[in-house]
Amino acid sequence: MHKDFLDIVDYSQDELQELLDLAVKLKREYQEGGNEPVLKGKVLAMIFQKPSLRTRVSFDMAMRHLGGDALYLSPAEIGLGTRESVADVARVLEGYVQGIMARVFAHQHVLELAHWAKIPVINGLSDASHPCQALADALTIYENYGRLKGINITYVGDGNNVAVSLMEISAKMGANFSIANPEHYDMPAAAVEVAKEIARGSGSRLSFFRDPHEAVKHADVIYTDTWTSMGQEDEAAERERVFPPYRVNDQLVSEGNPDDIVMHCLPAHRNQELTDSVADGSHSRIFPQAHNRLHAQKAIVYTLLKGA
Ligand code: CP
Ligand code: NVA
Repeated sequence: MHKDFLDIVDYSQDELQELLDLAVKLKREYQEGGNEPVLKGKVLAMIFQKPSLRTRVSFDMAMRHLGGDALYLSPAEIGLGTRESVADVARVLEGYVQGIMARVFAHQHVLELAHWAKIPVINGLSDASHPCQALADALTIYENYGRLKGINITYVGDGNNVAVSLMEISAKMGANFSIANPEHYDMPAAAVEVAKEIARGSGSRLSFFRDPHEAVKHADVIYTDTWTSMGQEDEAAERERVFPPYRVNDQLVSEGNPDDIVMHCLPAHRNQELTDSVADGSHSRIFPQAHNRLHAQKAIVYTLLKGA
């Protein structure tokens, strides 16, 4: 039993599958009339150092659907690590609420929150990873193909936090993961080494390309994300110069498997990393994918906060 949800690699394949099965069950239950109020009286504090639409609203609604509540703490409040130390924030909040979700710049800050708080801590995106996104992505792929094992997932673009968590969940669940990214925009080597080790155990194949056309051959899923993540705004001009060959357009989608699906964590920068016609076309699953954040995270808060 885990106290926190900080990174995909902390969970076993069986535990991730349990979360996915629970998400499927809670989604069905919700669509058929509503969830049981198992989190009645429980409150999740949501700390945001960066903006958000999906993470903020889907966690808030997940808590409400389960009978609990959520508290939004904006980037202007708290001052995590500046107005007050991370350790002190953790030890104050644990006296008020039953769980913490944090969206931060430095990954170390979610680790420190989890270290100091006796209550569950959930990583709602850091510069290093986005595990809640990956769980919702796995749910979307699972719903589409009925399995994850052996599915070919290709990520095209920046080797960022979203790519890392997608690689990790692919490796854990036995899906094959390939990435095409420009030179200097590789995923961190340490994360790749850990994923390779996990892939050896699950039978997942990891492949690394510069050429997006090579990478999408046999793809069941083509995934992309922004070229410039939050906090990298100073690099935007350089990135816009480097990344256009990695734009997901109709041609690239046609080079994958015939029924390949297109995914994006959103927010999308339309006609940068993916074209309008792809985002709104028949292969796109971007909105069901966004909606699955609600169901995947409901499984996370259900599991972590039920006994908190
Ligand atoms: N995908 C995602 O995390 O979206 P937000 O930044 O809007 O939360
Ligand atoms: N890679 C993006 C994801 C946003 C949800 C970022 O970190 O800004």
